[in-house]
Amino acid sequence: MTERYAVIGNPVSHSQSPLIHAEFARACGHAIRYEKLYAERGEFAAEAEKFFSAGGRGLNVTLPFKGEAFRLADEVSERARAAEAVNTLSLRDGKLYGDNTDGIGLVRDIVQNLDFPIAGKRVLILGAGGAVRGVLEPLLAEKPESLTIANRTLIKAEALAHHFAPWGALIAVGYAELEGLHFDIVVNGTSSSLSGELPPIPHGLFSPRTLAYDMVYSRGLTPFLQRAQGENSGMLADGLGMLVEQAAESFSIWRNVHPDTRQVTHMLREVLA
Ligand code: ATR
Repeated sequence: MTERYAVIGNPVSHSQSPLIHAEFARACGHAIRYEKLYAERGEFAAEAEKFFSAGGRGLNVTLPFKGEAFRLADEVSERARAAEAVNTLSLRDGKLYGDNTDGIGLVRDIVQNLDFPIAGKRVLILGAGGAVRGVLEPLLAEKPESLTIANRTLIKAEALAHHFAPWGALIAVGYAELEGLHFDIVVNGTSSSLSGELPPIPHGLFSPRTLAYDMVYSRGLTPFLQRAQGENSGMLADGLGMLVEQAAESFSIWRNVHPDTRQVTHMLREVLA
């Protein structure tokens, strides 16, 4: 029987996951079915349980349910425990296992695809919401020289620094404190690009040695990447590679094969063009 997978979210219609997983399965010669599953707010646990009791093998979980998925899981990985968020659920020996592949997706895109080591680098991440929380443990595991979180609402950055202290040191600052500082990697983990805005970063943050990375992907350059380009940032990247890498990690959790990602990223870039 063809094994069933799905991405569950609200909204979910925009999700590229079915396309990505169908391509992975084709390339690996696996026969799977991967659908989109819409859940009303408050109905996540019931929908997920229904999916698994009907024989479903794995779920990707997207906004706004990653925290609920963490609480629903019987067992979770270390990185999901750190994030307190789950984006990948699987049924293993009757137990629901939760993992979070977002952070390793970001790290692989930076380190492997962009060939930009994180170890020993000064890293700045903008934002302190769910997107950032999901990637901090894998970023810390790369052993950057320093990891700074800047957020409009400073107390949220400070709370993250406190929560992640067992995994490594984080420096929490407001945007004004970034004045005059330089970083090797600047990651935009705010949702500002979704509303066409730029976080209030001071000028002069980027240099020809800087990688500017927006976790959001889009057709043209996001306002953040436009600023980085205008300040001669050495490298610009959006989050499409991260999207494909997090999916590849989910696929390998479910199917025990790590699919090749280059082809799929290339295809998606064309689909989105
Ligand atoms: P997500 O799950 O996408 O991270 P979230 O939890 O709502 O969403 O968090 C959104 C993040 O983007 C927050 O860090 C938010 O800053 P505040 O905590 O100060 O609200 C940040 N953000 C959103 N729009 C922004 C903007 N225009 N400039 C700067 N930061 C912004």
